[in-house]
Amino acid sequence: MNKAIYFAAAFAFLTNVPLKAQNQYKSNISKMYQGKEINNKFDKEIARLLVQMTLEEKIGMLHGNSMFTTGGVERLGIPELKMADGPLGVREEISRDSWAPAGLTNDFATYYPAAGALAATWNPNLAYTFGNSVGQELRARDKDMLLSPAINIVRTPLGGRTYEYMTEDPFLNKKMTVPMVVGLQDNDVMACVKHFAANNQETNRDFVDVQIDERTLREIYLPAFEAAVKEGKAYSIMGAYNKFRGEYLCENDYMLNKVLRDEWGFKGVVVSDWAAVHTTVKSLKSGLDIEMGTPKPFNEFFLADKLLAAVKAGEISEKEIDLHVERILRTLFQVKAMGANDRVKGSIATEAHYQDAYKIAAESVVLLKNENNALPLNLNGIKSIAVIGNNATKKNALGGFGAGVKTKREVTPLEGLKNRLPSSVKINYAEGYLERYEEKNTGKLGDITLNGPVTIDKLDDAKVQEAVEAAKNSDIAIVFAGSNRDYETEASDRRSLKLPFAQEELIKKVVEANPKTILVMVAGAPFDIKDISTKTNALVWSWFNGSEGGNALADVILGNVNPSGKLPWTMPVDIKDSPAHATNSFPGDKTVEYKEGILVGYRWFDTKKVEPLYPFGYGLSYTSFSFEKPTTDKKVYQENETISLSVSIKNTGKLDGKEVVQVYASKPDSKVSRAAQELKGFQKVLAKAGRSELVTIKIPVKDLAFYNVDTKKWEVEKGKYILHVGNSSRNNNQQISINIH
Ligand code: BGC
Repeated sequence: MNKAIYFAAAFAFLTNVPLKAQNQYKSNISKMYQGKEINNKFDKEIARLLVQMTLEEKIGMLHGNSMFTTGGVERLGIPELKMADGPLGVREEISRDSWAPAGLTNDFATYYPAAGALAATWNPNLAYTFGNSVGQELRARDKDMLLSPAINIVRTPLGGRTYEYMTEDPFLNKKMTVPMVVGLQDNDVMACVKHFAANNQETNRDFVDVQIDERTLREIYLPAFEAAVKEGKAYSIMGAYNKFRGEYLCENDYMLNKVLRDEWGFKGVVVSDWAAVHTTVKSLKSGLDIEMGTPKPFNEFFLADKLLAAVKAGEISEKEIDLHVERILRTLFQVKAMGANDRVKGSIATEAHYQDAYKIAAESVVLLKNENNALPLNLNGIKSIAVIGNNATKKNALGGFGAGVKTKREVTPLEGLKNRLPSSVKINYAEGYLERYEEKNTGKLGDITLNGPVTIDKLDDAKVQEAVEAAKNSDIAIVFAGSNRDYETEASDRRSLKLPFAQEELIKKVVEANPKTILVMVAGAPFDIKDISTKTNALVWSWFNGSEGGNALADVILGNVNPSGKLPWTMPVDIKDSPAHATNSFPGDKTVEYKEGILVGYRWFDTKKVEPLYPFGYGLSYTSFSFEKPTTDKKVYQENETISLSVSIKNTGKLDGKEVVQVYASKPDSKVSRAAQELKGFQKVLAKAGRSELVTIKIPVKDLAFYNVDTKKWEVEKGKYILHVGNSSRNNNQQISINIH
């Protein structure tokens, strides 16, 4: 698309869209997302099929017969179950028996913002949009199951997959996960919610034994999975690589049979992570349904020939095999892969889907600092802008060892600025720092490895010179720094919070050369930006932000979009301040004990009174908001009631803007140890300049419960609670107290 069309689009966005969006927004505001239960009506048909199937055919359905399919039974009209990664959009087609690309031309897809970005919107409606949009693409690729969403809790900022996960907070996690699952499954496909559970690090993930006390498990690590099952009605769940309390998660009777199926009523299928299975009979008996993996021949999988032998040896009955086959058939019927001719056809890489990605990206950008009105950029008198940093042009749809997307559109930050700036403004681009990795222990240039990327943290003199010149010779400079998907990657955790490739040194030099420097971080996880954040007036946080990421970012920088993203995790001053590190319980060795217990993320910082660099829930706007005193519909509630909290917020600035009203609860004099406060409700609201909006947030009293390990039940303590209302976990001093009788 040429510049003029983009400009017209941006203008239309400024003039028309906000109004329309506002109306739509309001009508959606209290939408409840509820998935469709797997229907029992297929049971007769399933029974009819089962009696006709041979044991071999049944077992063929329980393991991969290619990298991303399980066996079907052609003669009975049972199709293969076709899966695709993943969290960033529908992954390109790979070969049936290796990771090599299949080389198709019809598998270009929309690259959606990573889950961290989605969570930063704090907008569940956008999570539905995301799921619905990617669900369409999945159908266009004729798949049945998307290996997404990935919802493990961000326990440590160093986690290699932090960008792929949503948040450190279980409440935000579940509020975003449920609509995502519902949106996806509204397209006759299955969500595969992963990685169940307690898979919070990449280090030693293939064997590490995670020890979490029961209350912490229930309150922090399971709520989003539970909501995905009970409210979202997710049709499948992926078992994780690691062990939990001594048992691998794909053969963990407690987690798969007791919690997932018996307690939560899960009716769908449990799929293993790739090569996460270690036993045959034990896995099946513990609740696993499908074994996926690589690279050995598919008949050598634990649930292939070995399973056949086990049945023949009488170690497991055919009746038990039937149970798993039934589950798979039921989900295939449910998503209309069988027995229907009106299945969603879908569409892929359409302009509408790119615009879905744009909407998410635009609401995800977090404004961390903005002094002297440095942003939005006032173009009056600006003739030139220095655009500096490898991240201005770096693409992230693919990279590292995680699933990515093959896409025809990934607008980089530099391209976004070019698209949105008038041609009268000259852009002076300089790469500034080089993305370079070292071959292990050789000092030579190399590639990233499964052991984690070893970065070369040294600047190149000529590149620095070029960047400094560009900064000096331009009216202002924007540095695009941060990381990328080679550096933040599946299979390894980061070693520290330090910015790689000597970026900090470069940023300081650029700021010296031009004090009017704006810093834009593109990253998926916290970094040590404490020093550099003091050096610049403006600091913007963007993400691995999808096909339209660069356009969305440019629109925020130029003020076409008023930023409304909020951090989905705490940005620590120092890694030692983070709970898993403060308690010296990361990454463990053979075992990792989550010693911080329930005090994950801001729960730790707030309870221990540790100052974060930027707190959970934080993000600025180009306008300002004031909060009136909140009220509740009653003062005293019973356990089965719902608190209705209302607060009027006023947009006290000159621009329309969206704010996220956040409600945190604390329990004075609790009989159990508690976090200082916990997020219990939030709502994003659009307020026009000068206008007030009344926001009503519903909090079921049962959401105030803690998990009582003695009774094995959720328990609402009676007495006084304080609800803190504001726009971040550290700016919420509008309080109201209520009583539970
Ligand atoms: C990842 C999963 C992914 C699977 C298939 C595994 O390594 O942990 O998230 O879905 O590979 O690509």
